[in-house]
Amino acid sequence: MNVGAGAGRFLTFEGIEGVGKTTQVARVASALTARGVAHVVTREPGGTPLAEKIRELVLSPREEALPPVAELLLMFAARGVHLANYIEPNLSAGRWVICDRFTDATYAYQGAGRGMNMADIGRLESLVQGPRRPDLTLVLDVPVAVGLARSARRDLGKTRDRFERERADFFERVRDGYLGRARAEPERIAVIDATRSVDDVAAAIVQVLESRSWIS
Ligand code: TMP
Repeated sequence: MNVGAGAGRFLTFEGIEGVGKTTQVARVASALTARGVAHVVTREPGGTPLAEKIRELVLSPREEALPPVAELLLMFAARGVHLANYIEPNLSAGRWVICDRFTDATYAYQGAGRGMNMADIGRLESLVQGPRRPDLTLVLDVPVAVGLARSARRDLGKTRDRFERERADFFERVRDGYLGRARAEPERIAVIDATRSVDDVAAAIVQVLESRSWIS
């Protein structure tokens, strides 16, 4: 398949903690490599040296409270840096950009989770991104109890970040936020049942890309 300059596609992966995003991002990257599709893998918040510094600011637990509005602005500050310095240049060069979380996470975590106003988030989205939106978003979905049990096993002995310290009811709101967005934008957002095996989830994702004739 020939992916020429300007044909870069922007794919984002979303979901609550413990859905297996990182594993599936790696799997889709291997599927693209196998087909000779030029791509880069990145994440939010973060993805560039400066944006990773903002990530550290927003994720590290500290004594002084980080108000939800400041958390929201830091997410978009990191995104502005990441878009300008990494995402847009790669898309312009014709590479696919596979991003572990993007603005749907802001609607789900800061909007549905923290209760920030959705219209305010929409204004920041337009301000920071202009017309840029993901071409496809894969929401990996598992019940909250399953996700939290998986992430607890994975993170045993590690310090939990500011989000991982939240309780189940926060993640229920986040999950509902993602599923609500998927219902509102079914063309862009595919919900993948991520309770299945890693191989089955990876196959379901490849099938979504094939069904759009993006890969074959
Ligand atoms: P992760 O490595 O698990 O993806 O960690 C990033 C955390 O940041 C995760 O708990 C979700 C949160 N987050 C937001 O709250 N809003 C955002 O816009 C993004 C990109 C991430």
